[in-house]
Amino acid sequence: MNAPTRRRILVTSALPYANGQIHLGHLVEYIQTDIFVRFQKLRGHEAVYLCADDTHGTAIMIRARAEGRSERELIAAMREDHLADFAGFRIEFDHYGSTDSDANRRLCGEIWRSLRDKGLVVSRDVKQLFDPKAGVFLADRFVRGTCPRCKAADQYGDACEKCNATYSPADLVDPVSTLSGATPEIRSAEHLFVQLEPMQGFLREWTKDSGALDPRISNYLTGHFLGEPLRDWDISRPAPYFGFEIPDAPGHYWYVWFDAPVGYIAATDEWSAAQGGSWKAWWHRGGTNEPAAEIHHFIGKDITYFHTLFWPAMLEAAGLALPTKVRIHGFLTVNGEKMSKSRGTFLLARTYLDHLDPACLRYYYAAKLSGDIDDIDLNLEDFAAKVNSDLVGKVVNLASRTARWLEGTGLSETYPDDGGLFAQGALDGAEIAAAYDDCDFARAMRLVMAAADRANAYVDAEQPWKLAKAGPESAEKLREVATVALNLFRQIVVYLTPVLPDLAAETGALVGGPILSWEESRHPLTGVPVAPFKPLARRVEAPQLEALVAASKPATPPSPLSPPSNLPSSGNASVTTDPAEPLAAEPLAPQCTIDDFAKVDLRVARILAAEEVPEAKKLLKLTVSLGGEERRTVFAGIKGFHDPAALEGRLVVVVANLAPRQMKFGLSEGMVVAASGAGATGVYLLSPDSGALPGMRLH
Ligand code: 2FM
Ligand code: ZN
Repeated sequence: MNAPTRRRILVTSALPYANGQIHLGHLVEYIQTDIFVRFQKLRGHEAVYLCADDTHGTAIMIRARAEGRSERELIAAMREDHLADFAGFRIEFDHYGSTDSDANRRLCGEIWRSLRDKGLVVSRDVKQLFDPKAGVFLADRFVRGTCPRCKAADQYGDACEKCNATYSPADLVDPVSTLSGATPEIRSAEHLFVQLEPMQGFLREWTKDSGALDPRISNYLTGHFLGEPLRDWDISRPAPYFGFEIPDAPGHYWYVWFDAPVGYIAATDEWSAAQGGSWKAWWHRGGTNEPAAEIHHFIGKDITYFHTLFWPAMLEAAGLALPTKVRIHGFLTVNGEKMSKSRGTFLLARTYLDHLDPACLRYYYAAKLSGDIDDIDLNLEDFAAKVNSDLVGKVVNLASRTARWLEGTGLSETYPDDGGLFAQGALDGAEIAAAYDDCDFARAMRLVMAAADRANAYVDAEQPWKLAKAGPESAEKLREVATVALNLFRQIVVYLTPVLPDLAAETGALVGGPILSWEESRHPLTGVPVAPFKPLARRVEAPQLEALVAASKPATPPSPLSPPSNLPSSGNASVTTDPAEPLAAEPLAPQCTIDDFAKVDLRVARILAAEEVPEAKKLLKLTVSLGGEERRTVFAGIKGFHDPAALEGRLVVVVANLAPRQMKFGLSEGMVVAASGAGATGVYLLSPDSGALPGMRLH
């Protein structure tokens, strides 16, 4: 048989935003992609899995400001969290970059020059709402106001949730900036646009004929976007914006969706450079002796437009390789509904890992993913039932009820007659591989479980436990039956290796050494030792799921019968009419113990001096007294919300035992406590009642 051609496959998942934690919805994609890449590697292909944090944009800028730290501090911290979550789920990237990298800036510049050279960039003035207090242009989601059509109050800047009207934020009645509470002004600013209409012909053809898209997607694009003139794409944002300044347009920044997909190439660049190669071997069109590289993007359906219109247009204009496949999946529901914080079904990766084995989720998703765009549901009862019946009951059970008979003797010297079971399993390999290659993991799992059923039926029929009792004359037969069972088990585990890398490693330690190739499913092992059996999987029990849901629920809100004492004094204190938005937008954190709380040393402090940090857009430098000679310097992200002069002398609350943080402008030795949030009309400093003294602790 000829050796199959070694494919070169570059694979990406969508770059997660650096302003949020990884949750089980994200993991549908990362687990799917990871399985695909592990499968290709096991088959002997050169597959490379690349990803990065998506770090730019207004949301990150605003969050960093609210947290009183720089954007770069924020994205560095999020990166650590993301990497820990991915490692916890055995997502194995070959390289994990950041869109805020030198490589990305350089590559954005190169693609930008191509767009300019082709005459595709035009400039126009755009009217946008500007927050004069916070000093930023407002993305639509940071403006609320009255719908110009149905007059519903408190609607977003671009769409009304009541009547579904879409409009320009400038049309909103009585608009309010959610950042500062200021009334936004309409300001005109120059924006740069990429013209897409000249690419219409190319996009129509690529969409329909390249094979990169599922026909359902290409039909959708053809029916909805292509065919009518394509609107120019607004790819710049005026300062202030956290991103890359456009080299030939000072004061203008690339919109986050311009530099994000270029992050795929930047990650290739960094990874290739570390291997002594070049990104061009993957992204240049043909021209090399190597087999052409394949490029597979895994994405969720919500970002289809960016990856099937904007991104190919950018690549085409720059003369770079186009995606071989854009593999689009649906969303995750939990127990049949959208993930919900109040129901405890907004499941963070970290919370899951605190309660359950990552292998269970990897298997469950694999069993659900068939490579199409339909949403998948994580029904927690079904999850437990499926993992327990398939992984524990069918697969691991094969080894747990036979391996121990072989501990002293090892496998039989020749492979016994198994009625053709191993050969049948080896034959199945081609079909299982085809299913994996097609991302129809559900089908692959069904085929594997059918093999496990056959193997278990064999064990049930041979009854090794009876042979064990029958004495020495049955010893050889017992060894043979166990040899067959353990070989069938290992064959199944080879097929499951892309999904369950830990099980594969533990199986290798039990018998036969590490599983390094799909080919190992073709030949049974004989005459090798078998290590003492260790449990390979545990059942999922209901209390674990209950604990997971409980830990994902916000702590119980205070009872309305005991209203907080700081209600506005103007009204009737027994009637709480406060708006629900702030709490709804940021539900209560999971419960903590009194000991957790005691770790945070909150103290009353007096602001002795407050001054602007001229180079920082958001920071005030505060010198605070904790009483006596104890002074601290604290950088607080409240510039624009407070007049420095008015702050001096005022009592505030500080986190006094926060580890000092080196910032660009000096050492910050604590944090001033302030309230902010959705619907907020500013950043509010907390003050104690009069009589409190600096240094007093909050209990
Ligand atoms: O939708 C998102 O989460 C984006 N951060 C995905 C970016 S993918 C790519 F284009 F960079
Ligand atoms: Zn409306």
